[in-house]
Amino acid sequence: LPKISYIETDGTRKDVDAKIGQSVMEAAIRSGVEGLAAECGGACSCATCHVYVSDEWIGRVPPASEIELEMLEIAENLRPNSRLSCQIMTTAELDGLLVEIALA
Ligand code: FES
Repeated sequence: LPKISYIETDGTRKDVDAKIGQSVMEAAIRSGVEGLAAECGGACSCATCHVYVSDEWIGRVPPASEIELEMLEIAENLRPNSRLSCQIMTTAELDGLLVEIALA
């Protein structure tokens, strides 16, 4: 199973086994990673699943769709490496992915 690592907002790191096809948001919620409200349940309409993709991974995750980019505009504390974690699907290639939970 691909491993995804999350840095929670207090700096705690959690390494999680994600399933292929599960979103980075879902893998976090199911594994007890804290800080993602994910209010819309993955429908790309809330921006409360905001994460920062680490520098070494930002070029390796598939790019954001138009809808995701529009939704990110309402996110707080936006950075160039901001993404909505419900819009990144787990693949074998993403084994080792590191993301930081954004402050809401
Ligand atoms: S969970 Fe709502 S946009 Fe990702």
